[in-house]
Amino acid sequence: MENENKTIETPKKKEIVFSAIQPSGTITLGNYLGALRNWVTMQEEYDCIYSLADLHTITVRQNPAQMRKNIIEAYASVIACGIDIEKSLFFIQSHVHTHAELSWILSCYTQFGELSRMTQFKDKSAKHADNINAGLFTYPVLMACDILLYQADKVPVGADQKQHIEITRNIAERFNGLYGNVFKIPDGFIPKNGARIMSLQDPTRKMSKSDENVNGCVHMLDTPEVIMKKFKRAITDSEACVRYGEGKDGINNLMAIYSAITGLSYEQIEHDFDGKGYGDFKTAVGEAVVEELRPIRERYEKLIKDKAYLEECYRKADEIALKISSRTLSKTMKKVGFIL
Ligand code: TYM
Repeated sequence: MENENKTIETPKKKEIVFSAIQPSGTITLGNYLGALRNWVTMQEEYDCIYSLADLHTITVRQNPAQMRKNIIEAYASVIACGIDIEKSLFFIQSHVHTHAELSWILSCYTQFGELSRMTQFKDKSAKHADNINAGLFTYPVLMACDILLYQADKVPVGADQKQHIEITRNIAERFNGLYGNVFKIPDGFIPKNGARIMSLQDPTRKMSKSDENVNGCVHMLDTPEVIMKKFKRAITDSEACVRYGEGKDGINNLMAIYSAITGLSYEQIEHDFDGKGYGDFKTAVGEAVVEELRPIRERYEKLIKDKAYLEECYRKADEIALKISSRTLSKTMKKVGFIL
């Protein structure tokens, strides 16, 4: 028999990727280079599940009408980046009730001390001193549940989320230690380049949509003119030499952005701009960003006009996400001792 010694090849199961973004205002160049770009490329190799983390946004007060607008715009923006909704799931967190339910359960397996150590909690409570609510404190538990419900292997995020991935692993390991293997222990997936994009106006601080100085933050949907203006005004130093080094936070940041987009190494960039001034370099970085974001903005303009299509996309994804996550929730509840 000809086929006797042949092994039958079963298709290898793909690893699962999970990540989410808060729809709290426009998406920034930092979000894009730190996370969304990887969301797109990972679709080729992994089974990808992405979410709009709208439940997370209410840890800070939101205007209801603005919040609804932000959710739809963020949903369209993420698809515009290149998320293929035929291939990947992209759902809205608040539409899938398992997240809030598991969050209560796992908050009983998370220690006050470990939540107190979260730098994001410390930063946000300093910034919103008049509203240090319990949700702000337990935020990492909900984020852990987002990831653990889907048994994710990898979580593409920027460097600022590293501590939250670590606490997710700790909570999962603690629960598994008590009840057996319920949760997959996920790994963070942080890009080499672009993991921490800084403000163009204060390069010691992370680029953030809540930056008070509008020129500090590049938004993914900014027009080419606005993008060029922001880069031309970027803070640099007085050395006038394009090189990566200590005390050159502004230039280091511009080099990180340029390198993340062009794929050029720092040595190559230093070589290419040898003898040239900061003006030339800022123009080059601005132009590279404009070209990277141009097709995204064009896709966004079309998508945002078709609300019915967007709704069809998230309703379909919400339903599948509920099915997948319900399996993990049921298993967890059984292990704890609930009657189902
Ligand atoms: P959020 O909405 O603040 O940011 C979304 C993603 O963008 C990354 N990012 C950056 N990367 C590089 N440079 C920057 N300046 C920059 N600013 C933001 C973030 O690291 C993130 O990957 N808690 C999360 C949302 C979330 C989540 C999850 C993420 C909820 N559940 C489960 C992963 C898995 C957040 O607030 O991201």
